[in-house]
Amino acid sequence: MERIPVRTAASTYDVIVESGCLDRAAELVAPVVGDRRIFVIADEGAWAAQGARLERGLAGLRFETLPVKLGEDRKRLSVVEELTERLHERGADRSAVVLAFGGGIAGDVAGFVAASYMRGVDVIQCPTTLLAQVDAAVGGKTGVNLRTGKNLVGAFHQPRLVLMDPQTLRTLSPRELGAGLYEVIKHGVIWSRELFDRMAEGRDRAKAGDPDLFEYAIAESVRIKGEVVEKDEREGGLRRILNYGHTLGHALEAETEYKLLLHGEAVAWGMIAAGRLGEAVGVTPSEERRRIEDVILSYGPIPSLEGLDAEKVAARVSGDKKTIGGKVHFILPEKIGQTLVLSGIPHEKVIEAAQSALDAVAAGAVV
Ligand SMILES: NC(=O)c1ccc[n+]([C@@H]2O[C@H](COP(=O)([O-])OP(=O)(O)OC[C@H]3O[C@@H](n4cnc5c(N)ncnc54)[C@H](O)[C@@H]3O)[C@@H](O)[C@H]2O)c1
Ligand SMILES: [Zn+2]
Repeated sequence: MERIPVRTAASTYDVIVESGCLDRAAELVAPVVGDRRIFVIADEGAWAAQGARLERGLAGLRFETLPVKLGEDRKRLSVVEELTERLHERGADRSAVVLAFGGGIAGDVAGFVAASYMRGVDVIQCPTTLLAQVDAAVGGKTGVNLRTGKNLVGAFHQPRLVLMDPQTLRTLSPRELGAGLYEVIKHGVIWSRELFDRMAEGRDRAKAGDPDLFEYAIAESVRIKGEVVEKDEREGGLRRILNYGHTLGHALEAETEYKLLLHGEAVAWGMIAAGRLGEAVGVTPSEERRRIEDVILSYGPIPSLEGLDAEKVAARVSGDKKTIGGKVHFILPEKIGQTLVLSGIPHEKVIEAAQSALDAVAAGAVV
């Protein structure tokens, strides 16, 4: 078992990464909740696949389950209203503890419910997708979408405890698993050459679902994200590096109307584009760029991006909410394990990088 402490300004919480930890959830959760009531806000899909384990694991504690149908189109304030009303109907008071169970959507929605219900109740995150384990569940960001854009309403609300059980990944689709693996590679590129190399050489084991590799990859990702977030809780500076691959990745997601690609797949393309951009502006040495690209493509396929217009994708970059004072910041690898944040890159260079990344994926993608 790995118990990784994450320190924030307000508190310190533990992230537990352990195969089988759902089955003994009660003993891990009890020290945090005592005899308070736990309300499990559970994504229906995750609940159907893994809920029985949590239910048995929590035996002995005061808990009840609120299953909810989620999905990107249900990550909305209306669902937050629905859930907070359900909490109130069941008599949840300020001592209630919300346990968010499911992927990143459950974490974001239930986390925001916890952040706002009665001006804030405690939340325990229990992420059940790889993406949520390596990314969404650490850092305290919660929120929902607006019709006009993703994640535009929300709050920072740090969890009291995070439970990650790599066994939950057994029921996840290979495509969802693959999307999460790209975010692990991202952590390697921005922070740890060792993680990157282990993922490069462990590709076949990762694809085959090797539990030891997953435990390692999740724990390392949590450690890296935790370290970055500790130093910069609210995204003033350093935290921006977590956005590597996301500036162009988000633009691609938007351009394909969130239908063609999973988030992690868009980020994979975004990392390739960032590498090419980095090389074009003299930040990323070409052998490092190639190595990053090879490993990303080896984890593919990324769905075919044929017919996409690089200019349109690049035009969307300036609409990203992460722009600061109208300036677009790109996170460019200086070498594997180290990045540079750069703004003021000429728009033509961004278009060129987007185009050459589209070409690279077309050459490497098999679907
Ligand atoms: N808060 C953050 O810092 C942060 C960071 C990254 C992403 N996110 C958010 O995360 C969301 C994406 O998360 P996601 O990729 O986990 O998607 P998701 O929550 O939609 O889960 C993906 C699918 O897997 C199913 N599922 C979940 N766990 C399962 C399991 N163990 N077995 C079988 N099926 C299971 C779900 O029902 C769903 O259909 C986005 O909305 C994104 O904005 C938030
Ligand atoms: Zn991401």
